[in-house]
Amino acid sequence: MNSLIVHADLGVTKISRHIYGHFSEHLGRCIYEGLWVGEDSPIPNTNGIRNDVTEALRKLNPPNLRWPGGCFADTYHWKDGIGPRENRPSIVNVHWGGVTENNHFGTHEFMDLCETLGCEPYICGNLGSGTVEEMSQWLEYLTMPEKSPMSDLRRSNGREKPWEVTYWSVGNENWGCGGNMRAEYYVDLYRRYSTYCRNVSGKRLYKVACGFQDEWNEVILRENHRLMDGLSVHYYCMSEGWEHKGAATGFPEKQWHSLLKSALGIEEFIKRTATIMDRYDPDKRIGMIMDEWGAWYDVEPGTNPGFLYQQNTIRDALVAGVTLNIFNAHADRVHMANIAQTINVLQSMILTDGPRMLRTPTYHVFEMYKVHQDSTLLPTNLATEECSTDGVTIPRLSASASKNKEGVIHISLCNMDPLNSADITCDIRGDHRSKVMGRILTSEEMDGHNTFDAPDTVYPAPFEDCKLDENVLAMKLPAKSVVVLELN
Ligand code: AHR
Repeated sequence: MNSLIVHADLGVTKISRHIYGHFSEHLGRCIYEGLWVGEDSPIPNTNGIRNDVTEALRKLNPPNLRWPGGCFADTYHWKDGIGPRENRPSIVNVHWGGVTENNHFGTHEFMDLCETLGCEPYICGNLGSGTVEEMSQWLEYLTMPEKSPMSDLRRSNGREKPWEVTYWSVGNENWGCGGNMRAEYYVDLYRRYSTYCRNVSGKRLYKVACGFQDEWNEVILRENHRLMDGLSVHYYCMSEGWEHKGAATGFPEKQWHSLLKSALGIEEFIKRTATIMDRYDPDKRIGMIMDEWGAWYDVEPGTNPGFLYQQNTIRDALVAGVTLNIFNAHADRVHMANIAQTINVLQSMILTDGPRMLRTPTYHVFEMYKVHQDSTLLPTNLATEECSTDGVTIPRLSASASKNKEGVIHISLCNMDPLNSADITCDIRGDHRSKVMGRILTSEEMDGHNTFDAPDTVYPAPFEDCKLDENVLAMKLPAKSVVVLELN
């Protein structure tokens, strides 16, 4: 039997809206084609940024956007991406396919995009191959209101007012693509670079240090906990492992289970990382910043292996649903998260094909779950059955609940079982509710997905199979479904 108790009067922790953040790297067709088509493109755009994509993304209430990488960030020299586009140098994108990067999308274009989306920028500075001066000048260029060499340069490029920047990370994966450093070396570099990272407008900068696995994180926290606001960690789930990641569509049933098992593993990773953070930061001032997460498959056959283009199915919707439920549950420590990546790369919100675009099942989960943003987490007790195939066992259900500032309760539920529906009762305690409505995302096929010819195959529908009686909900959750309920 499955049951859920929601303690509607016991909420304490706020679920930061930043948990619902995004990530766009100069990788494959994420920035170019996905977001940026240029002012002369026949694809409708505003100042070079495509309108269909920004219109769709705005509906997610994106709280923040991480840029320019990823691994690309530690090769990025920001001065290459300002000034007249025809004068910007072309460089080689060494990490992602060795393709030419013309730098037409740079600082001004990114900050314009954030303004259009109504989200905060989260910029990753180059510690791997850039200088301290370069990083500090970038912040001066972005945020200096008074006259200075960098604010004059910004003005000469057409922007009078400084931009607002709060979130700043000092390098990306510096244990790997960002310089192959040892933790002991990085901690000193972090001290040096971050000293010169100033929001010169006077607003406090939220500085994020690079994290990794336990041993590395221990060194970073031990040496630098007083000097950092966030610890960046990454978690990708795979159905097979790094060598053979498995296919995004047409996969065997066993890979449904193994992928979701891998996705659920993020909770163990969060707990381990939080234990280390608790040792040095018992008051939980420092945020765990899960600034890359999602499902990673073998690329779509026939596409550039360096572009990381993959389809997105109902299985990915479940990955998103259970992961966001886990982030909500750990909102006291997880202060921000960024799914990788917004468009055409890894677990995307949107896929594009020339002028066409589609919203993925993952997009719909973000749209349904946006009700949790900045709401108060309600404690829950979930008892769930399990389901297994070929010896791989996962829990059938996952759930999360929150109350917003108007007092509306939202419950998100996932049925991870690919074959069977699940009956569940849900007891709302400590608060009276008389009305329930909901939406469901599901699909007939285990790899149900949207295509450019049929872009709304997997699409949210009203959820009817739910009755509220005396504060107890009784529901039947179809196989492979994500449901979000609203209780008034
Ligand atoms: O998201 C793709 C890549 O994965 C990022 O560039 C890197 O930070 C991570 O290894």
